[in-house]
Amino acid sequence: MFIALEGVDGSGKSTQLALLAEALGPDTLKIREPGGTEAAEAIRSTLADPGIPLDTTAELLLFFAARADLVRRVIRPAIEAGRTVVSDRFVDSTEAYQGVARGLGVEVVHELNRIATDGLLPDLTILLRVDPETGLARAESEDRFEAEGVAFQRLVAGAYEEIARREPDRFVVVDGSGSPEEVHTRIMAALGSKARQ
Ligand code: TMP
Repeated sequence: MFIALEGVDGSGKSTQLALLAEALGPDTLKIREPGGTEAAEAIRSTLADPGIPLDTTAELLLFFAARADLVRRVIRPAIEAGRTVVSDRFVDSTEAYQGVARGLGVEVVHELNRIATDGLLPDLTILLRVDPETGLARAESEDRFEAEGVAFQRLVAGAYEEIARREPDRFVVVDGSGSPEEVHTRIMAALGSKARQ
């Protein structure tokens, strides 16, 4: 099984990913995007650093380079070995951030995602819904995307809502407000109800 967590910056995904992985058991593989391989982590530091000037198309392609390496060398082998994989962000981040908020286009993101992942999609994507302003205030450091400010995060939030509407079978939207324990309880309830569908 492959589960992804999505949301605006500061939505609490990383905390929730750790709690979810713990709840799913010790054999669960926890990854983050961009990242999860040596090359992808190196790409991540370039992408995160607002001090490194970067063309937006180059930015887009770096996300796909990192994803292709992670999917082919880590995620697919783990799924084939029967492990549960949980990821902090996946393909929908690129649609929301680069496709919509950066305005590079959703179609091109879909096509490149298909090439980078060979069509691999999460079985379930959990969207943590938080107010973009609250999220931005909560985000710890200012990366390239947080530095774009609240208007950018609002575009990202709107794009996520649209994807969740378009793909109700793959998506579950969870209220991200409240304590980490409260949000975790909601996530586990959502997982349970999806499993029963
Ligand atoms: P995070 O690990 O704190 O979520 O940081 C990753 C940053 O990269 C975050 O601001 C969202 C951004 N991002 C994209 O813009 N596109 C993508 O495809 C992914 C995976 C992340």
